[in-house]
Amino acid sequence: MSDFLLVLDEGTTSTRAILYAHDGTVVGTAQRELTQHYPAPGLVEHDADEIWDQTLACARKMVEQAGGASRIAAIGITNQRETVLAWDRRSGQPLGRAIVWQDRRTAETCEGLRVAGHEAMVREKTGLLLDPYFSATKMRWMLDHWPALGESGDALAFGTVESWLVWKLTGGLHITDASNASRTMLMALDGADWDDDLLALHGVPRGALPEIVDTAGAFGHTAPDLFGAPIPICGLAGDQQAATIGQQCLRAGQVKATLGTGAFVLASTGAVIPRSRHRLLGTVLAQMDGQRTYALEGSVFVAGSLVKWLRDQLCMVVAAAETETLARSVADNGGVCILPALSGLGAPHWRAEVRGHIAGLSHSTGRAHIVRAALETIAHQMHDLQTAFAADDAPWHDLRIDGGMSANDWIAQDLADMLDISVERPAGVETTALGAAMLAGVGCGLYAGLEDAAVMRKGARNFIPAMVQAVRSARLAQWHDLLATELAKHA
Ligand code: G3P
Repeated sequence: MSDFLLVLDEGTTSTRAILYAHDGTVVGTAQRELTQHYPAPGLVEHDADEIWDQTLACARKMVEQAGGASRIAAIGITNQRETVLAWDRRSGQPLGRAIVWQDRRTAETCEGLRVAGHEAMVREKTGLLLDPYFSATKMRWMLDHWPALGESGDALAFGTVESWLVWKLTGGLHITDASNASRTMLMALDGADWDDDLLALHGVPRGALPEIVDTAGAFGHTAPDLFGAPIPICGLAGDQQAATIGQQCLRAGQVKATLGTGAFVLASTGAVIPRSRHRLLGTVLAQMDGQRTYALEGSVFVAGSLVKWLRDQLCMVVAAAETETLARSVADNGGVCILPALSGLGAPHWRAEVRGHIAGLSHSTGRAHIVRAALETIAHQMHDLQTAFAADDAPWHDLRIDGGMSANDWIAQDLADMLDISVERPAGVETTALGAAMLAGVGCGLYAGLEDAAVMRKGARNFIPAMVQAVRSARLAQWHDLLATELAKHA
């Protein structure tokens, strides 16, 4: 068996390739930033060629570090979900930019479908809500606005990001895995294939869609000219599902939160299809040998992207790491409270039209107060999810956190304090990539199953609640006041 597993982790803001030894040790990492295109308020796009070029460059660097393609047992791919691309099968050329999961351009379409009474059917089949977040209305928008799609005729191909990367890596294999397919709003949670009613509702042609496959298996090989020799592709999963696997939250009730661009909580429900009554989502966690496991999900749209905004747009910090020192430099938020709705609000509110707000400014407000208030938005949003999960009979007994922002000790402790539960952070916070490595390891036969792949997971640190109830209650009251005011403005 070759020495390494190679993960391609294509996130919202950057693309990375990570080389793992079989015991889970990270041997090397290559990372490239992705250009964020914001053509108008609420619109977010990526360049499909850039996604591919940057991914290939990172992958080549890691293949070189491994000592050649033959040293790599398998590739696992994990990706920002829902983001959708269209390309022409004959030319292999993209037919426009990728429309990113954060993009709100189809808010009116979703509202129209809701008013027409389609939400119950969509919810029952897919576990999703009619929100622009998901891929189907973005595909419809492309069909309606980009003539090139019509001109491609039968050669039109749609795909989420892992689908695009597999197409490019293999030179024409058009597949998607069940975890990514479950985010398109075109597949029923218990349906093996695309759903006729959903295809008709959104007017998406079945022939343009990829084949739905497992999350682990022998899917195909990279084209020989890319890395000097073919490498098998054996793992595919949406990034949040991969993080859940990387955290080994495989048993019903185990719950993780990944703090990346957004913040996504997934609680495994095992083989049971989740049916939320409190505006959470049902999603496919994994599909192994055709058998699905599921998760209840709370999707928060803005987490790390708020810090990125403070850094890049407001120039309040030079590096994200500064936020921890700044937050600690003041005793509290000084009355400042932020509604981080830069892309509308996701779970459990689902209000695409709401926008961000900074409240409580005064002459005594300093940069540190605003930064601290920004970090506090993580725990506030997680608290709302905690309440919704509990109402759905899925209470959190503890929480495993991961993702870039979880490395911030102040945030980890604030989560334990505000949620009043123990928060566990693994030694390696890049659990998304680890999960994709585990899937690739299972898919190539290195591990018998995902439980065996747990040997790749290292130790963890616990954060224990230490906040007095009165402080917690005051913070939550401040947050809920702001939330209620802003939601009412858009009622
Ligand atoms: O559903 C969107 C999600 O997959 C994006 O993940 O890591 O870019 O916040 P991330």
